[in-house]
Amino acid sequence: MKTKTVLITGAGTGIGKDTAKSLLARGHTVYATTHYQAEVAGLKKELGESAHVFKLDITCADDRAQIADLEIDVLINNAGQGQSGSLAEIDIDRVRQLFEVNLFASLELTQIALQNMVRRNGGTIIFISSIVGRVPAPFMMPYSMTKFSLSAAAAGLREEMKVLDKGIHVPVVEPGPYHTGFNQTLSDSRFEWMAKDSLFSRQQIAKMKTDTNKQMRLLESKSTASVVRKIVSATEARKPRLRYVAPLHFAILVRLARILGV
Ligand SMILES: NC(=O)c1ccc[n+]([C@@H]2O[C@H](COP(=O)([O-])OP(=O)(O)OC[C@H]3O[C@@H](n4cnc5c(N)ncnc54)[C@H](OP(=O)(O)O)[C@@H]3O)[C@@H](O)[C@H]2O)c1
Repeated sequence: MKTKTVLITGAGTGIGKDTAKSLLARGHTVYATTHYQAEVAGLKKELGESAHVFKLDITCADDRAQIADLEIDVLINNAGQGQSGSLAEIDIDRVRQLFEVNLFASLELTQIALQNMVRRNGGTIIFISSIVGRVPAPFMMPYSMTKFSLSAAAAGLREEMKVLDKGIHVPVVEPGPYHTGFNQTLSDSRFEWMAKDSLFSRQQIAKMKTDTNKQMRLLESKSTASVVRKIVSATEARKPRLRYVAPLHFAILVRLARILGV
């Protein structure tokens, strides 16, 4: 297998960090980038000497500019944030801010990486979207909409790169729920503000809280191994597929949902 130079965003925690570990173990050169400077030293210590670790807040233009001269073979757009609440009443500025991170900043970073890849006639841009970028998730629609957009962007860019014919591949990875803490923060965000003047009653909100906690316990995969395997496959493939979904039972569910027209 030919080893590659891979840059991962949001690699300070969760799926990004586990992917960095796996790629390093497989001999790849890894730029593991973090949201905040304070995370750099700890991550470097955890990943070891061979890892290149630096701060890259994807919403910061100066940070993004740092990658212009890096000869990256694979960019993994993993950094993301969550925001939940009903579309009937959520402050639209929260939604706007989420699109800024999950969609626009990832696309701006992608454009910089692409310049270099096109010059070198090859590369792969991986977008970490979500299963809720295929199937809408009520009360998580701000997040779900950003991931629908990201999955659509990946599919569209993939076709554009075929026309460009410079050996650029664009796969999208759509994980189901994994226990990284991300889903807890995502679903809790609605209770930060919904309790105040919500259209939904106290009882409805209390039930929502109980149901969400139950669903999380039931649905979340405890280990990220299955999604990391998919990201590694997309990274190493000569011609990556358009979509990688994990874990397997969610891949089946998403197909069923499509057939049923959900
Ligand atoms: N866990 C799941 O169930 C699940 C399911 C489907 C898709 N995903 C997607 O998988 C990706 C990784 O999520 P995860 O579960 O591993 O959660 P996570 O641990 O919270 O990972 C998200 C990472 O993105 C970083 N980040 C946020 N804003 C950033 C910014 N502006 N610039 C750079 N980095 C930024 C976070 O850094 P800080 O924590 O320091 O802010 C964090 O390290 C996300 O895109 C998420 O949407 C997760």
